[in-house]
Amino acid sequence: MVQAVRKEPVGVLKISTTGRYLPRAVNLCCCMRLVVAGGTKVLKQLDEIRERAQTAVALAVNLEELESLRVRFLGRKGEITQILRQMASLPPDERPPVGRRANEIKEELDRALSARSEALLGQTLLAKFEREKLDVTLPGRPVRIGHRHPLSVVQEEIEAIFLGLGYSIVEGPEVELDYYNFEALNLPKDHPARDMQDTFFISDDVLLRTHTSPVQVRTLERMAPKLPVKIIAPGKVYRRDDDATHSPMFQQVEGLAVDKNIRLSDLKGVLLTFAQEMFGLETRIRLRPSYFPFTEPSAEVDISCVMCGGEGCRVCKDTGWLEILGAGMVHPRVLAVSGYDPERCRGFAFGMGIERVAMLKYGIGDLRMFYDNDLRFLEQF
Ligand code: FA5
Ligand code: MG
Repeated sequence: MVQAVRKEPVGVLKISTTGRYLPRAVNLCCCMRLVVAGGTKVLKQLDEIRERAQTAVALAVNLEELESLRVRFLGRKGEITQILRQMASLPPDERPPVGRRANEIKEELDRALSARSEALLGQTLLAKFEREKLDVTLPGRPVRIGHRHPLSVVQEEIEAIFLGLGYSIVEGPEVELDYYNFEALNLPKDHPARDMQDTFFISDDVLLRTHTSPVQVRTLERMAPKLPVKIIAPGKVYRRDDDATHSPMFQQVEGLAVDKNIRLSDLKGVLLTFAQEMFGLETRIRLRPSYFPFTEPSAEVDISCVMCGGEGCRVCKDTGWLEILGAGMVHPRVLAVSGYDPERCRGFAFGMGIERVAMLKYGIGDLRMFYDNDLRFLEQF
């Protein structure tokens, strides 16, 4: 066991039997020397510590070594702290210069440690990059930003036009009940018009909808007996079709307006406004008599050819007209099954193919290009 002798402030000697006062022999030496040294000597000691510390820091080769140097010189039990602790044994007037010098050295050392640690960190990183052959100056790979599909662009344009006319946008399920897709639209089980819309059946009563018209009935059921009803319903539909102008999955926008006094001329006016906003003010429309079980009367609606303006060309097959949609006055039976009294209100409805509108707008000859996912095509829009 070490027997430590420690000089207390005013010349009182204190004996420690545990040695805990002064844990290290070095400190004991400092202390002993201090007793005889006086301020000047202590200053010299400080400078000697400073010298050793600076050299050690400059020579340190890794961060662990720097940390242990920090502890050794600046730590709570470090060399400088020990000197400061012993300062009490100096005559009072010699203490301030020693304190000042010690603090200067501490700050200086602290800066040296930080600078060296930064330098070492840089070297470590460089060595790591070298090992991993990482060139941090290489420009990054650009992230390719996608854009909207031309059909989405056209759909949003259609929606914007009808929103401007006071219509709301609603949606219905793509997996639909036979009832809404056919039955409620006046197409009973054995109706021959079902043949034109063969589709994918999930069960006898559940199928992939062949058009957006079932949303008419779903909307009316929900709204009845409120008037007016003015909605459009965009969405995907499915049929057993496959050629240059017919896809097995395509998209329609349904339109429906029901009110007390809706007339065929209202339908014409709305469709003309739509055609002119979509294809240009010079566009004309024409209604050809047609047949749908859920409208009466029914019409196929054509627009004047966007390529030749009606003169006749390859696109319009020399007719001057292009078909874009089916339409008509809502059949009284459809109103009745949906909860509206056909004696008290009437309506018109239409259904257009979004691909058709996009083909006409951009002059595209083959509908299948929209679904080929060929970026050379898609990036042109
Ligand atoms: C119908 O689907 C009716 N539901 C439209 C309707 C609604 C009439 C409301 C009356 C009242 P049609 O089968 O003609 O009708 O289709 C409407 C439009 O969808 C066509 O004019 C065409 O633009 C588009 N279309 C039809 N089949 C396909 C297909 N396989 N691929 C791409 N577009 C198609
Ligand atoms: Mg048709």
